[in-house]
Amino acid sequence: MSISVTARLATSEDMFFLTDLYRKLEAEMSAIHPMWPRADGLDEPIEAAFLTCIEDPDSLLLLGEIEGYPLGFILGRSRPLLAHEPGVRVGAIQMVFVELEAREVGVGEVMRDTLMKDFRRTGHSLFDSHVLPGHRLAKNFFEAGGFAARSIIMHHSDTEGGGRRIRALYQPPPGSE
Ligand SMILES: CC(C)(COP(=O)(O)OP(=O)(O)OC[C@H]1O[C@@H](n2cnc3c(N)ncnc32)[C@H](O)[C@@H]1OP(=O)(O)O)[C@@H](O)C(=O)NCCC(=O)NCCS
Repeated sequence: MSISVTARLATSEDMFFLTDLYRKLEAEMSAIHPMWPRADGLDEPIEAAFLTCIEDPDSLLLLGEIEGYPLGFILGRSRPLLAHEPGVRVGAIQMVFVELEAREVGVGEVMRDTLMKDFRRTGHSLFDSHVLPGHRLAKNFFEAGGFAARSIIMHHSDTEGGGRRIRALYQPPPGSE
């Protein structure tokens, strides 16, 4: 029996799922690098940040569902290039997350491909995505979608041991596997 994997635009009525999924993504990314919730995540309070994304014509926020139940989300933002590239915009995937127990069945792929299709409808043909260094899972996922690395961010902190990562790999919370 095949399962139904779909993606749809999120609305303000999905706030419960969005905040729950975001907190899990935040925990997973923070375990890889402590700067993620400070620089790469959403502004707090995240409910207000999600509402802004939902209302912003340059943002796309989708939920990924299995049999109609939300198990992942993806956030993309349309960004301009430099001034000498007038009118050219990049569809940047800022974050994507799928619940641990729903991984590797195509939820991420359906969300990524739907987001890119929606961006293409509004004239985008360039796409970026944000991946933490050493995060092979996310790198593989984007490579499978035809992405290749074009930039990395070097980081230094005077107070937090330079730019070192805390842990190279995410350790799932006990009992979640
Ligand atoms: C990255 C992530 C979104 C992938 O979601 P997913 O639903 O498991 O991915 P899919 O099942 O759609 O897989 C799509 C492709 O990605 C690759 N992929 C996904 N999981 C993989 C894994 N564990 N190992 C190797 N490749 C993998 C495969 O090429 C796969 O294609 P295939 O099914 O034809 O082999 C998910 O693992 C996740 O939420 N990770 C934590 C959050 C994160 O890292 N986000 C990115 C930065 S914000």
